[in-house]
Amino acid sequence: MRVAVCPGSFDPVTNGHVDIIRRGAKIFDKVIVSVLVNSNKKPLFTIEERMALLREVTADLSNVEIDSFHGLLIDYMQRKEARVLLKGLRATSDFEYEMQMASINRHLNDEIETIFVMTNNKYSFLSSSIVKELASYQAPIAELVPPVVEQAIRLKMQENKS
Ligand code: PNS
Repeated sequence: MRVAVCPGSFDPVTNGHVDIIRRGAKIFDKVIVSVLVNSNKKPLFTIEERMALLREVTADLSNVEIDSFHGLLIDYMQRKEARVLLKGLRATSDFEYEMQMASINRHLNDEIETIFVMTNNKYSFLSSSIVKELASYQAPIAELVPPVVEQAIRLKMQENKS
């Protein structure tokens, strides 16, 4: 069985992520979308909230599983018996960092192959940080994230204010 792991912070999941996950689900038998625990970044959503949102927006994809991991990604992949790392590439600005990560992961375990999917052009500017920034100024985000995520961000911003 061809299993791919799609790792990330997903704080929160955007339409760009969903595009990559959907396309990955057509290529691989199973895609495990895994949320990194213990990132240095100060997150807006808890791990459980991020996983719940991912579950909702991929509910129609029977071969997509939502999980979380901490520590080294390649150790986690070994535990999951996955050999493919699925990543999205938005623009050349992503390239250097992603090439470094792919090279380090291959250095650590040369059985692991990183497969890059080019993000749909309409999402090439999109990131979770941009979405959070826009939402903090009450700018529209409806075209950038799934409706449940938009709602969750609005709610979270309200909670954080009060
Ligand atoms: O969505 P992000 O924050 O760009 O995702 C980054 C992620 C989770 C893919 C990356 O930070 C990661 O793999 N972290 C786990 C630690 C690890 O294995 N690092 C690579 C070797 S230094």
